[in-house]
Amino acid sequence: VKRIGILTSGGDAPGMNAAIRAVTRVALNSGIEVFGIYDGYKGMVEGYIEPLTKASVGEIIDRGGTILGSARLPEFKDIEVRKKAVSQLKKRGIEAVVVIGGDGSYRGALALTEMGINCIGLPGTIDNDITCTDFTIGFDTALTTIVEAVDKLRDTSSSHHRCSIVEVMGNRCGDLAIWAGIACGAEIVITSSTGFEEGEVLERLRDFDLIKKKRHAIVVISEKITDVHQFAKKVSLNTGFSGRATVLGHVQRGGSPTPSDRVLASRMGEKAVDLLMQGIGGQCVSIKDNQIISVPIEEALSMPRESRKRLLNLFERLV
Ligand code: F6P
Repeated sequence: VKRIGILTSGGDAPGMNAAIRAVTRVALNSGIEVFGIYDGYKGMVEGYIEPLTKASVGEIIDRGGTILGSARLPEFKDIEVRKKAVSQLKKRGIEAVVVIGGDGSYRGALALTEMGINCIGLPGTIDNDITCTDFTIGFDTALTTIVEAVDKLRDTSSSHHRCSIVEVMGNRCGDLAIWAGIACGAEIVITSSTGFEEGEVLERLRDFDLIKKKRHAIVVISEKITDVHQFAKKVSLNTGFSGRATVLGHVQRGGSPTPSDRVLASRMGEKAVDLLMQGIGGQCVSIKDNQIISVPIEEALSMPRESRKRLLNLFERLV
């Protein structure tokens, strides 16, 4: 392989830049030219494609976001749209592409591979919702941001005998919530795996107040489960705590990547280039038991999500 492209797609994640840098430098050091494809698949279709150099990926390892820009392009499902993308790549002699993104981005990568452009997926999303990998690039940074925020919320909640309900992202995956709950010593974690029984949660909060005599209570809840502002009002009405809701929102997506995310991105970027050099496509890179491996995208997309029973069990034993 002589020329490869690289793009970031879907929601951005801290560490995407470290991955872009790793892919670019490992490839250039192996005699392969690298092209940045801007704004995800949209830039591929529109031909917004420019060469990357060692210098152009300098001073980005510590930067959040993605220097290539990102977008979601549902139209990429359409074969005619993909044909345009393939012809843009062929025009420039780009034979293979590294796609950094979530499962939606992987579907595009698989479809392109089937059209003769070898693609390798790298898991770039804060959600940690790609089952075939223990961790995605960006998860550790988002988790760090959440933990910092919750630590601050606990200070003020404790001063005012409040219950802080903190909504975190995850796109129906509870990993950010459960990891944050353990790391912050939260009182309650609510995810799609735990389910949400409002009455039961209120009962537990009354117990933390009256029996356990807690000065504060932290509830970490995944997004898309309930209206946390309404729930905070019910906490005020039905428990001894005054309820306050905080939606952390897109703050979780930004910021300088943690060292773990930078190293993970670099290891995965290296693997992507090595696979393409062997003429392999249609695979995504994963970390399993601290080993960097690759899995066929088709297999990765059909793996059921883990229930996280053991972590949730641990959480309950720590309360
Ligand atoms: O997939 C990353 C993510 O931040 C999810 O956690 C969240 O549900 C979604 O993207 C938000 O999307 P947008 O940035 O388009 O509002």
